[in-house]
Amino acid sequence: MSDRHDTTSRSVTILAIETSCDETAAAVVVDGRDVRSSVVSSQVDLHARFGGVVPEVASRAHIESLVPVVDEALARAGVDGADIDAVAATIGPGLIGSLLVGVSAAKAYSLAWGVPFVGVNHLEGHLHAAFLEDPDLVLPAAVLLVSGGHTLLVAMERDGRYRLMGQTIDDAAGEAFDKVARFLGLGYPGGPAIDREAGSGDPTAVAFPRGLRHQGFDFSFSGLKTSVVRYVKTHPEVAIPDIAASFQEAVVDILVEKTRAAAASIGARGICIGGGVAANSSLRERIVSAAHADGRRPFVPSRAMCTDNAAMVGATAWYRLRTDGPTPLDAAADPNLRLPLVA
Ligand code: KG4
Ligand code: ZN
Repeated sequence: MSDRHDTTSRSVTILAIETSCDETAAAVVVDGRDVRSSVVSSQVDLHARFGGVVPEVASRAHIESLVPVVDEALARAGVDGADIDAVAATIGPGLIGSLLVGVSAAKAYSLAWGVPFVGVNHLEGHLHAAFLEDPDLVLPAAVLLVSGGHTLLVAMERDGRYRLMGQTIDDAAGEAFDKVARFLGLGYPGGPAIDREAGSGDPTAVAFPRGLRHQGFDFSFSGLKTSVVRYVKTHPEVAIPDIAASFQEAVVDILVEKTRAAAASIGARGICIGGGVAANSSLRERIVSAAHADGRRPFVPSRAMCTDNAAMVGATAWYRLRTDGPTPLDAAADPNLRLPLVA
């Protein structure tokens, strides 16, 4: 490899691509920290009338948007192909048709420009988002990853080494937000809609159940969702903001309680949240107060960094390029890829 690809001594500029679900995103990130551009083209309007992401619609939209989004990211960063040292893309988990668009494009750019390709785990991307904005990583850290597809509680004892402490046994937290919002007629995506409604509601209006409370670090949200549906059907007079606020309170209570307990059990110095649900106003506030009350340092990414974006992919790619080297060009996108865990 030429000097240009030496990732240890000089600055490394990465073009990163994210197409795992319904956002087409590209970013230029230097040395895993310095975000020169981050462009996100959302497909929300395309999927809204279906009340959720339609995989075939998503992959077609990625195909249409990808090149313009990459061009925009390069232009905003003031670079072109000759300045790029590696091209990264989310390789899983996600929708296979959507992942394939980003992965194939990234491999093509890497071949055309003669630079390495780096396949990035989307969950590790969400995890790195917090450290991208606040590089003072303190370990050990308890990390709560909450998105539309995942709810994981992870112990990070050493940089880049993750141990699974708990996960959902049914719906992901974001999925619960989306399903409840849909039932309440608040539209898609549900998380931001519930967050908004909850702002003018009373979180103590209805005492919804807290699944698996005091039972280890696993989560369960499907009973909560059923309970909201049953309650609304039998109490149609209760105002939607009160239902939204009470539902959100039930989710956030359990997320905060378990993260706090997990942090205590590993003697964590830091508490970190990531994933789309980490954009939730109440979760953000409560995790910061809990961390401060317990003498731990909170790592809470900005809202834009919580939801899907390519800057987090670029940051993770830089780290993985240094630790594991490039990803072979024959590596396949994996819709079920898991976070690389240690025992
Ligand atoms: O990480 P993400 O953008 O995509 C996945 O990898 O799944 O997460 C999307 C999820 C959706 O379920 C969405 O409703 C939820 O994150 N979400 C929120 C908020 N913003 C997005 N949930 C609660 N409150 C929010 N403000
Ligand atoms: Zn995500």
